[in-house]
Amino acid sequence: MKIKLQLSQIITNALLIANIQADEIVISDASKPEFGDYQFNGMMKLAKELKQNPREIAVMVCSHIDITGMVAKVEVAGPGFINIWLNDAWLATQANAILEDKRVGVGYVEQPQKVVVDYSGPNMAKQMHVGHLRSSIIGDTLATLLEFLGDEVIRQNHIGDWGTQFGMLIAYLEEQNTDGNTQELKDLEQFYKDAKVRFDESEAFANKAREYVVKIQGGDEHCLMLWQSFINASLGHCEEVYEKLNVNLTRNDVRAESFYNDQLAQVIETLKSKGISTTSNGAECVFIDGAEIPIVVQKSDGGFLYATTDLAALNFRDKVLNADRICYVVDARQAQHFKQVFSIAKQADMVGAEVSLEHIGFGTMMDKSGKPFKTRDGGTVKLVELLDEAVVRAKETIKDRDVHSNEELDAVAKAIGIGAVKYADLSISRESNYIFSWDKMLSFEGNTALYMQYAYARIQSILRKHDAQIFGDIVIGDELEHRLALMLLKFEDTLTKAAIEATPHTITGYLYDLVTLFMKFYEQNPILKGGIEEEVKMSRLQLAKLTASVIAKGLELLGIKVVDKI
Ligand code: ARG
Repeated sequence: MKIKLQLSQIITNALLIANIQADEIVISDASKPEFGDYQFNGMMKLAKELKQNPREIAVMVCSHIDITGMVAKVEVAGPGFINIWLNDAWLATQANAILEDKRVGVGYVEQPQKVVVDYSGPNMAKQMHVGHLRSSIIGDTLATLLEFLGDEVIRQNHIGDWGTQFGMLIAYLEEQNTDGNTQELKDLEQFYKDAKVRFDESEAFANKAREYVVKIQGGDEHCLMLWQSFINASLGHCEEVYEKLNVNLTRNDVRAESFYNDQLAQVIETLKSKGISTTSNGAECVFIDGAEIPIVVQKSDGGFLYATTDLAALNFRDKVLNADRICYVVDARQAQHFKQVFSIAKQADMVGAEVSLEHIGFGTMMDKSGKPFKTRDGGTVKLVELLDEAVVRAKETIKDRDVHSNEELDAVAKAIGIGAVKYADLSISRESNYIFSWDKMLSFEGNTALYMQYAYARIQSILRKHDAQIFGDIVIGDELEHRLALMLLKFEDTLTKAAIEATPHTITGYLYDLVTLFMKFYEQNPILKGGIEEEVKMSRLQLAKLTASVIAKGLELLGIKVVDKI
């Protein structure tokens, strides 16, 4: 339900009657219940334009607001705000209309876009690290959300599969294969270390590694075959993580750096011919206004760089994929890089002016002491092990609750453990650094996945206890019911905001408010106790059921599962 849009139409109509033109009406949520449900703060700006007293115009506009349907009451507040209360009967009708709706009242965007979401992007020559974990989780949520709202989403996994390190890795792979020992690739971290040891200890090996770099670049079949099998194995490890994380990335979404190899020379040609790049000390550089250091697009030895590949990818995404919007879910530390390539791509017309290019940056994952997240000996944390530990800890957290059989316990622990890791990541504003804490993420209290999953399970238990058909309508009888119904109807506005701003924490914040409100409602408005009128009981059961549906849908968009019992 697009509540804000409807309210802005009502205000626009009132302004029209008052003969006031306004370009855009922005409605905000009221900051406190005493201020109503919503607030219109635009009167100050309008008053300035009209050179009139804001409070006086507000009073006049209020007198023209239609209070026969959606709106129950309006009031002028402060120097010229308009506080708005919605009508109980209207809220109840809207809530009743979505009781059986699979989309729980969420419609589609009016103008669907083609959106490329670039996320995960691990480097094949290294272990996938926590930064890629964040990108995978945030990117996947964004992709799922946009798809749900009706956009056409093209997922792109821009894996790093090209560069000098591969010479060493495939030379080592070949050496291992002659021994018939491909088991080595089972532990990639160890494999890199061993390859590096060989590289450092043997001159012959190091030479071979260097020779192989040139050979892969030249298209040598044998080397390319080794390279491909290495990439396959490395990608297999990433897929194991995606699978555990419930992240929707497949081989079809991989468009690796190497894919753009044969387009890189053209990128340089275009930049040169448009006079955007200049040759400096043999290297091809783009000087950007205001920046001291130029961005190098081709080295003096002819080699291309990360930025060159990104320019080719931007061109491809615009010209071939026809994207309207391109979102890069990448570490905030790459902000400068994206600012530069976006500006060059637009200048060079590799991307049309109307295409929205967005770097969806995120902060670093820290440990409790505020240092970047590492293993005790300073190594990279193995993601698969981290996720397995989450499940073990989740099992520990719930095992004494005694509501599950052994088989159930495994599935529930998985939903809770993986949910905890994902939710912890999604629930903080993405630009912030984030402190990884098992205790916090596996808590039943606070803004955690478990709090939401527990609320869902609790509602299921109420419905099980009731053990009969639920019929009849939602009827709003008090303030808490009013707020709960309104909160449920705000789901679409919440998702729309999260999609535009690419902020999953808008969704988690909403879920937290919803569940907190539900708990209050449930405490004060008993459902199954004796002595409650049948009609009231049904109405409350319907509200509870709808709350569960919204929680489940919200968590589903975050890639988190609900369970019936906790
Ligand atoms: N492989 C890169 C990294 O690990 C991320 C790729 C992001 N996508 C892009 N088009 N540059 O830092």
